[in-house]
Amino acid sequence: MKKVITYGSFDLFHEGHYKLLKRAKALGDYLIVGVTTEHFDTMRGKLNLVDPIMTRIENVKATGFADEIIVEDHDGQKIEDIQKYDCDIFTVGSDWTGKFDYLNAYCKVVYLERTPDISSSLIRREIGTVVRIGIIGTGRVAPRFFEESSYVSGAEVVAAYNPDVESAKEFNDTYQLPTYVDDFDTFLDKVDALYVASPNETHADYVRKGLEAGKHVLCEKPMTFTYDEAKELYDMAKSKGLKLMEGIRAAYLPVFQQILSTAKDGTIGKICSIEACFSRLPQIGSREQCDYKYSGAFLEYGSYGMLPIFKLLGVDYNDVEIDSILGENKIDIYTEARFKYDGCIATAKAGAGVKTEGHLIISGTKGYILVSSPWWLADSFEVRYEDPNRIERHRAEFQGGGFRYEISEFISKIKDTNGKEYKLTAGESRAMARVIEKFMEQRKQIQGE
Ligand code: CTP
Repeated sequence: MKKVITYGSFDLFHEGHYKLLKRAKALGDYLIVGVTTEHFDTMRGKLNLVDPIMTRIENVKATGFADEIIVEDHDGQKIEDIQKYDCDIFTVGSDWTGKFDYLNAYCKVVYLERTPDISSSLIRREIGTVVRIGIIGTGRVAPRFFEESSYVSGAEVVAAYNPDVESAKEFNDTYQLPTYVDDFDTFLDKVDALYVASPNETHADYVRKGLEAGKHVLCEKPMTFTYDEAKELYDMAKSKGLKLMEGIRAAYLPVFQQILSTAKDGTIGKICSIEACFSRLPQIGSREQCDYKYSGAFLEYGSYGMLPIFKLLGVDYNDVEIDSILGENKIDIYTEARFKYDGCIATAKAGAGVKTEGHLIISGTKGYILVSSPWWLADSFEVRYEDPNRIERHRAEFQGGGFRYEISEFISKIKDTNGKEYKLTAGESRAMARVIEKFMEQRKQIQGE
């Protein structure tokens, strides 16, 4: 008996899938079909699948071609399956030509002609309303946002705004956006949602204007400098039925949820200390080093450190102390915020002009979690114990620069396909604003001296 195996997501089951399975079956006597899990697809950068796995399995089953259906959930599984099920042929569509040649060491690899002009991505684009995104601020982060947004189905950057018209024009020309407008109100008319990546002190105003105009908003951190303003903006979004999200990328990476659940499930015992660091040596003359009012280490990077602390310990700390090392202009080149909870101390360290190890360490009574630098872009972490030889390694890969997961979350929120908000809640974002407010007050006093 000749056994054939093939794999796919089979989202929004279409004619291309049907033909592929039919021909795969015809290659042998027994067909095994591997259907991907959402987690696996997320790790390989395939975001915003529409059908849940059970629907995708049912659709494959309904063709009658599959003799057996299995689930694919990790890298390297194809080699395992081919051996486990004793397969003679591995097959996929010709869009993968060459990619699986390495499997020839285990069985015959056959690439079947792909059915032209149809794909799940295409259907997702057609059926799903596309969220037209306008970028505000065309500086360093905007190009990365633009590039990564192309991997998120349902998201399309259609316009960019910058009061510095030359910069906006240049961005527009480079990325060939469909619309160019230099008037802010016309720009708002052209979009459904905003990505705010302008200078820090302008974030809140743009968010407010966007919400007032009925737009969903994803805003770079820090969204505001005060708790009250953060509250006002989240309240406004809620009352208008709009989505407002603060862009702290680490919160949306696949590995972060794994870190949180490992920290919470008792593996390391009771959490007694968290240390989360983020540092960068910025270029001389950059905003991080010169803008003593609205930039510096804590305003740029402090939110990263606060993220795991608030996610794991909650926002009701007993006390927070903030200390900075100041550079020229009395801008902070290094800041530590130490949070005291009952039975736990947590520190967020931020450096802009001071370099330190960018790790996250969550220490407990039985062991600790080490997420090596750069923890905010991690694809793995370790659980360590008293015995130095006992190390458990966990992996959760991600694709590209990690940005697409944040964009994908934003789109899912807008489309309401994501259930309850949990990756970064409005309450956690407001709590960060409260700390930033305290930091700003302290800094004003120091700078005013
Ligand atoms: N396939 C095909 N012809 C198409 C689309 C897909 O033969 N027009 C094949 C793929 O090559 C693969 C299998 O169907 O062997 C499952 O593909 P999958 O990635 O699930 O489908 P796509 O439509 O390519 O999905 P997406 O657009 O999300 O990448």
